[in-house]
Order: sequence, then C-alpha cells, then structure tokens
Amino acid sequence: MMMLHNALEYAKNNYDQAISRLIEWLAIPSVSTDPAYKADVQRAAEWAANYLRSLELHTETIATTGHPLVYAEWLQAGPDRPTLLIYGHYDVQPAAIADGWTSDPFTPFVRDGLVYARGATDDKGQAFAQLTAVEAWLRGTKGLPLNLKVILEGEEESGGRSLAQFVQEQSKRLRADACVLSDTSMAHIDQPVITFGVRGIVAMELTIQGPSNDLHSGMYGGSVLNPIKALVDILSQLHDHEGRVAVPHFYDEVRPLSSAERAAMAAVAYSEAQWQQETGAPIPWGENGYSLSERIGARPTLEINGISGGYAGVGFKAVIPAQASAKISCRLVADQDPLVIYERVKDTVERLTPPQVKSELRYLSSGWPASVDLESPAMRAAVRAYEQGWGASPIFKREGGSLPIVADLQKHLGMPVIMMGFGLNSDGLHGPNEHFSLEMFRRGVQTAIHFIHEFAHMNG
Ligand code: BES
Ligand code: MN
Ligand code: MN
Repeated sequence: MMMLHNALEYAKNNYDQAISRLIEWLAIPSVSTDPAYKADVQRAAEWAANYLRSLELHTETIATTGHPLVYAEWLQAGPDRPTLLIYGHYDVQPAAIADGWTSDPFTPFVRDGLVYARGATDDKGQAFAQLTAVEAWLRGTKGLPLNLKVILEGEEESGGRSLAQFVQEQSKRLRADACVLSDTSMAHIDQPVITFGVRGIVAMELTIQGPSNDLHSGMYGGSVLNPIKALVDILSQLHDHEGRVAVPHFYDEVRPLSSAERAAMAAVAYSEAQWQQETGAPIPWGENGYSLSERIGARPTLEINGISGGYAGVGFKAVIPAQASAKISCRLVADQDPLVIYERVKDTVERLTPPQVKSELRYLSSGWPASVDLESPAMRAAVRAYEQGWGASPIFKREGGSLPIVADLQKHLGMPVIMMGFGLNSDGLHGPNEHFSLEMFRRGVQTAIHFIHEFAHMNG
C-alpha cells in the first residue's frame, strides 16, 4: 500500500511536467495516412522511445514496411509476478485549419482546462496517461509491482497491418496476462465506461470509368452515360428504405440481439437529445427496429465516406468526366469476416453496374470486430481501479468505432484486453479542435496507477 501511495504522490506532484511532455509529443504531426508526414511519424516514434528509455525501460523502435513500432519492457518484477501489456497509437488523423480549426492543429495549447491539438485525445493524450502512470511507479517507488511491456504503433489511423504482423510473428515478445489500452470514450466525466465491444471495419474504393477522357458536355452530352450518374445510381441502391444495407447476405452471420443484451444496452442512457447535441443533424436515421445505441454499437453498417469526380472548382466547366469514385466502408459486428463482406459488396456493385461504364471495387484495409470477456480477473481489477482512481464505478458499453488490434491480440495471443477509455465523444476526435480534458488526464493517470496495483495483486 505504501508503494501505491508513493506512486500516487509522485503523479500528483508532477502533472505539470507530464502535460508539458505531452504537448511536445502533440506538436509532432504524426499523420500516418499521408506519405508527406513520414519523417514526422518517425519523429513521434522516436520521441516516445526516448521518453520510455528515460524511464529505464528496455526500448526499441522497430522498423516495418510502414511506420515504426515502439516496443519497451521492464521485466524486473520477476517470473512470479503477472505481466501487463500497454497498447497505444502515436499516429493521428490528418488535420488542417481549413477543416474548421481555430488555430494550428500541431501547435498545442491549453485553455480552460483543455489541451487542444490533433491527437490530444486520440490517442497520444490517452496513451500518455497510461505511460505517466508507469513513470509514477518507476520514479515514485523502487519499481513496478508487475512486469511491463509497452507497444505503440503508428498505423492505427491508416489501417496498417504492421502490428498485426508483429503480433503473429513475434507472439512470444508480446506475451502478457492482459493488455490494457486507453483509446475509447466515457459517457461523461463522472461516468467511466469500460468498452467491451468494438466493431470491425472494411474500407473500399469504388471507381467508375466511362469515356477514356473527359468530354465536352455539349458535343457528347446525351450520348454517354455520365460516370458520376452511374456512381450515384449504384450508391443509392446500397441501402433499402428501411435503413438496411441492401447487399445480399450482408447480415448472414450477424447474431440477433438477445433480449438480455437489448435490456443491458437500454440501461445505458443515450437520449435522442444527446445524440442531437453531439451530431447537430436534424433527426436520426438508421435501421428500423433498433435504438440509437443498438444502431451504433451492435449493428453493421455501410457508409459512403467520400465521393469525387468531375469539376467542382471555381466557375464552371462543361465536361462529362471520364471517372468518378467513392470511398466506402462497412462497420462490422461479431462473426462478420471483413474479406467475406468485401466480396459480397463487390458482387453487388458488379451486378448494379450498367453496361455503359466499367466499375472496380478495390479493397483498402480492414480490421475484425471484437468483444471481450467481462469476467476476467483483469476486468475485475479494472473496475476496482476506476472506483479508486476515478471515484466512480464504470458501466460497460459496446462502441461503434474500431480498434483492430483487440481482435489480433485475442486471436494470436489469447489475451484478455481491457479498453479503459479516458476520453469523451465530444473531444472532437477525427474532427476540428480536438481536445482532451486535463482533469480527465489526471483522473486517468490515477486510475492507471491503481490498475497496475490491482492487476499486480489480482490473484490475492
Ligand atoms: N480510437 C479510435 C476508435 C474509437 C474511438 C473507439 C472512440 C471507440 C470510441 C481509433 O483511433 C480509430 O479511429 N479507429 C479507426 C480504425 C480504422 C482507421 C481502421 C476507426 O474506428 O475508424
Ligand atoms: Mn484511437
Ligand atoms: Mn482514431
């Protein structure tokens, strides 16, 4: 108990230092989806590696075919102590002033108790709360009460598979009794959430090719099927009027929700008013017969994420474009195989393509859905950690977002995974003016310190 107290004291006395470190990390634009930022992604990995090295963790940056992995370990607690794996991602979504940021997304600043920057909550800020807890144990006491492994990846936001490959090929190195990650959301500051389900995802790009070059729309208009029209015709047929995905066999593997599951989901309050406030959209849409939480957490979807083609610049250009394209993704639930779903969407697109154009549906990336055991000792340790570190008992929720690593760790390492979120859906992740509450960072660090203690002693 003395050690726990010392770790908590150390954290309490060093928050300002932790925040200035986090701000340094946030200032590195580690945008993994854009090759122009490759060197910055590398720099963010090195920054994290240097920090972990400064804590005297044995640390390596591991080169991959994509962005580097940062792996660190501290195994001095001895073989009779449990081993914990901490996962985080140091890459971020793209961000530009033009998207509505009020200032540069990579010049972090603190205002009214919030730190603003791309990555503030997703995931540098949340991951750094876990690492700050490690620092508190290592610096505030003589060491950790358990063996620790840390893996940070730089391809989470770009759907990269380097970590999945590492998990498969180097499974021994990552072996641990459980993995904890902070990359999800809570209901509000006084209501912590442990996420027990994440959806899978498969991302695709549909290209429609019409004439071999852009054509004068007066000279040829009326004689050529416009690829944009063909594209929107196809896209418009991918849902029916009940909000269901109109891809044959799309729902074949989806297990119906049991009445107990529906009751559990209904018990977690999520009102239409809250949904309205978060989204700013006029009224909800979606699959008939399902509540908002069920649509988001427990049902699969097909989404059009972007569309392009023709001329949309200043002025006007009288043109029939040669091509049009759309980015499409499906969110998947338990038992839906991303590649099987891709094949089914592809078959559907082929069937819907008129003979006047050619279509191609290209596979981009994917991740499996996952749900985790609520009864593991690690989960019980996490509940106690929130009670003591956050000051409130967590509720359990399924999330609509995706964290492909969860299924990879379960599948290849048989590891319980604890999704211990410290963020809020209103933090602006993936959107403009992303931020993270310093108070939530502080409680997150405390919770993570308690989790290390509870996990180390979970078997008595
Ligand atoms: N941290 C998010 C996922 C998330 C956010 C889960 C909020 C639960 C609550 C993660 O960084 C993310 O954005 N994942 C991507 C994965 C994709 C690019 C493979 C997603 O969900 O779109
Ligand atoms: Mn994330
Ligand atoms: Mn993200």
